[in-house]
This record gives sequence, C-alpha cells and structure tokens, in this order.
Amino acid sequence: MDVIQTQIDTHSDDYRRNYEAMQGLVAELQDALHTARHERSDKARGRLAQQNKLPVRERLELLLDRNSPFLEIAPLAAKDLYDKKVHGAGIVAGIGRVAGREVIIHANDPLIKGGTIYPMGVKKGLRVQAIAMENRLPVINLVDSGGAYLPLQSEIFPDADDGGRIFYNQAVISKMGIPQICGVMGLCTAGAAYIPAMSDDVVHVKGTGAIFLGGPPLVRAATGEEVTADELGGALVHCRESGVSDYLAEDDAHCIQIIRQIVRNLPPPSKTELGTRTAAPPLYDPKEIYGIVPELLSTPYDVREVIARMVDKSEFLEFKALYGPTLVCGWGYIHGYPVGILGNNGVLFSDSSLKAAQFIQLCDKRGVPLVFLQNINGYMIGKEYERIGITKDGHKMVNAVATATVPKFTVIIGASFGAGNYGMCGRAYGPRFLWMWPNAQIGVMGGEQAADVLITVKNDQLAREGQPPLPEETAAQIKEPIITSARKEGNAYYSTAQMWDDGILDPAKTRDVLGLSISAALSAPLRDDVHGHGIFRM
Ligand code: COA
Repeated sequence: MDVIQTQIDTHSDDYRRNYEAMQGLVAELQDALHTARHERSDKARGRLAQQNKLPVRERLELLLDRNSPFLEIAPLAAKDLYDKKVHGAGIVAGIGRVAGREVIIHANDPLIKGGTIYPMGVKKGLRVQAIAMENRLPVINLVDSGGAYLPLQSEIFPDADDGGRIFYNQAVISKMGIPQICGVMGLCTAGAAYIPAMSDDVVHVKGTGAIFLGGPPLVRAATGEEVTADELGGALVHCRESGVSDYLAEDDAHCIQIIRQIVRNLPPPSKTELGTRTAAPPLYDPKEIYGIVPELLSTPYDVREVIARMVDKSEFLEFKALYGPTLVCGWGYIHGYPVGILGNNGVLFSDSSLKAAQFIQLCDKRGVPLVFLQNINGYMIGKEYERIGITKDGHKMVNAVATATVPKFTVIIGASFGAGNYGMCGRAYGPRFLWMWPNAQIGVMGGEQAADVLITVKNDQLAREGQPPLPEETAAQIKEPIITSARKEGNAYYSTAQMWDDGILDPAKTRDVLGLSISAALSAPLRDDVHGHGIFRM
C-alpha cells in the first residue's frame, strides 16, 4: 500500500488559523464533558455519602479493568435540556473491559434527581440495548433509581419506544443469549424494579439496595402502611425470601467484586476474525487534523489529509482514484483492523455515487468493515444532473449502504446535509456507532438555503397572484428565525443532546475511538440475514 504524501504546510497561516479554531472547539468540548461528569449539588453528594454509597464513576472505576479504555456513549445526552442539570440524561453508559471481557455498562447516576429516568434517559437506555444486541455485548446494569421522573411521566410511559421497551428488550436480549447482569446498588423503584427482575444475574447490596414495584411513599399513600425500604425490598428480603435476587453483597465494592466474578465465569465470546495486521500509528500526527480542517465548512480541503492521520502507517490503497473524484474510497488499517473508507471531497455526483456503490459491494463481499467520513452538502442538483440520472445513481449508493452486512462506522467530520447524510451512512442507515466532530453541522439543509427556499416559494405564490415580490426587509425578517433555529439545531451539541449520535470526539482521538468501536463490533458475527442488495435502478 502507498503512503499518502501530505501536501500540508504546517507553518502556513491557514494551518495556524485552523489549528487555533479547532483547538478552541476541543477545549469547549472538554469543558462540557467536565461539567457533565462532575457538576453535582452538594446536597445530593452529602446524601449519597450519608447512605454509604459510591458515586457512579467510582463504581465504574472499581468495575472496569485497571488502565483499560472506556468508550463512553452519549456523555452529553440531554445537554441543556430540562433544568440543564440532567447531565448525560442521568446515566453513565459505555463499553469497557471487565475481567478481560468487553461489556456494555448502563449505570444510573443517583446524584441527579435520585437517579430518576427522564425521557432522554429512556432513549439512552434503548441505545445501550441496541448496541448490546447489534454487537452481542454482555450488559451490566448498575441500578440506583427512583423510577420514572414523575413530572414528565407522559413522555416516558406508553409509546412503543418508551419505558416499556426497555423491559421488552431485556427479554429479547435474554433470548439472544446475551448475558445481562444487574447490581442493585440503591433503590430500584417501579419501572426500575423490572431491570433486575428481567436480568440473568442479580447482585443485591445489603442496607442500600432495594427492589419494589411501589416504594415506601407510594405504599403509604395507597394503603397507609408504614414500611422502610429495607423491610419492603431489601437484600435479605429478596435473597432469602422472594428469590428475586441471587447474590448478597455487603456494600458497593463487594457488589462489583461479585459482578466481576460473574463476568469471569461467562463462556468466552466468539469474536469475528478479520485479516488483522500488527497495529502501527499513522506516519503523521493525528493532532495535525486541527490545522487541516478549515474553520468554515464551506472551505474545501482534501479528505486524504484526514485519512492519512487516521490509518496505520498512513498507508492507503485508493480505489478508482481518477473516477468520481468528489468521493475518496480506499482500503487501509485502523489499529490493525482492515477497513474500507469513504470520505467526501465535495458534492456527490452520479460518478461518485456509482463508485461508492461498487466500493461498498466490494467491502461487503470481502468482509471488510466500512468507515464513512461524512462532510457532505448533498447530491448534485440541477437540470443537467437530473438528466444524467443523479437520483437513480444516488439510490444505488443508498441501497448499497442500507443493505451492506459488514459493520459500518460513521464519523461526521463536517457537514451532514440532506440525502448526503443517508448515502454516507447517517444514523438511520444502521452504523454500529456514529460519532461527531465539534465543528460538525447537521440538517436537511443549511439555514440560509432553507430560508431562501421558503422566500422563493412565497415570491412564486405572490407572482401567481399578480403581486410584487416581498420587500427585502420583510424577506429578511422571515429568514432570520429560520437561519437562527437551523444554526442552533444543526449544531453538534444539539445533535448529541438529542442522541442523534453516540458522542462528540476530539478529532485527534478519532482513530482510537474507531479502533475500540471496531473491536466491540467484532463480538457479533458478520450479519448474514440479508444477502446481496436490493434491485439497483439502472
Ligand atoms: N420523580 C421526580 N423526582 C423525584 C423522584 C421521582 N420519581 N424521586 C425522587 N425525586 C427527586 C426528589 O424530589 C429530590 O429532588 P431534589 O434533589 O430537588 O430535592 C431528589 O430526587 C432526590 O430524592 P430524595 O428523596 O431526597 O433522595 P434519596 O436518596 O433519599 O431517595 C429515592 C431517592 C429515589 C429513593 C426516593 O426519592 C424515592 O423513593 N422516590 C420516589 C420513588 C417512586 O415512588 N417512584 C415511582 C416512579 S414510577
């Protein structure tokens, strides 16, 4: 494989300007992550200490193998929603190594409103389960939750993708033979009681853990019965009398020790074998990506420069380099795993779409995972392109992406607009993981374009009625809120708060995150449910 020869001048003004801008965005990301991980009220901290319980991240530290990576999922979920304090949607989730085994962890944060479940918490729980099912990862639930966040109960309860789906999925996951282990480390009230109930193994902490369908406040309100949490659903009740729990733990640390033993005792995973190579770092420093990616999304740059800082030894075998140049396709290795990479180098035309469809088919047949580097404003529009058949060629690409059976991974490294989002494996196209860079923007189209479309529609309407077009001032007044809301809702932070992605990354860490993502994906066999592709419109 050839080494990509960089054309970047790391001493140029452009490089320095870009570098500083991206460094600013990464600092902002680190601040946001720090706040999400650590901003908790003193009152809540005091209560937890009094109860002799550990904060959620200390529980994770004990659970995870020492010095092993933790791939956190959606740490900024629910950012700026509710009272802006429901960090991570009240849950810490991620993929890590426990007793040498890759698992996915879902842990309530009791320092946020008693670990209660907000609507975004349900969404995060469902995402964790989707990852577990797709990648066949054992699930560890550390439950410490007051159940539904009652003021928002109508948004959590009855619909197909609401709370009930979590327990439905637990039954399905169990049927799939994926282990689910639950630590009862605080109250598991109402809905949260079903998490241990539907698990394969339940470890229950004496004194602090309790499981009940209705907690003491509800029992008092409903029946007048005065009962403590421990009497109602404590460890001794459930380990000795009801049989709801399987293992008795003296405290949080002991509970985690038992969970680690259970994981150690699981049958070994059957990992999908790929033709791996010894991992090697890229020839160029991944941090140089900061200076390569322009501050403005509209400024073009060569995505090969990003690929060169992502793949092992910066080696890349480019496919059809001279054909369909607005999409770069080719083979490389990331942390020793073979990958087929598709990176945008401009708008998608018919030729670049056809190239993508062919390349995806090749990777699919050869069992090579696909990595999409999305920076796309959409498919080319206009009379000339419609006549060539951009719609049917775009369709072939979308069809190939949708039906590819190899694991897919998407990183939105810039723009993600319109059908380009679909063709480049947006969330709806089933990438195992989807990450974003802090400069990324997402939407049907940019705010300016959306506003222009609406003004054009309005002026056409007026013309049909024989009226003059809107005065410029009125047009500007109509455009302003559209542009403002598109800017706000197209922002990477808005996306990650809504969980349209699995998290925002420091671009320099992308290669490492992809390596961990691919490793996790290999816990599942390559999909064999869909052979070949649908009908390609010719
Ligand atoms: N919905 C909304 N808020 C809730 C809540 C719920 N289900 N359960 C607790 N909270 C809030 C409390 O109002 C409190 O808010 P504050 O920090 O603003 O004062 C915070 O969560 C912590 O609750 P607190 O009772 O002070 O803490 P704790 O550690 O002693 O107990 C619980 C936590 C969850 C065990 C306890 O609050 C409880 O039993 N809640 C009711 C559980 C229930 O019956 N749920 C039914 C849901 S279907």
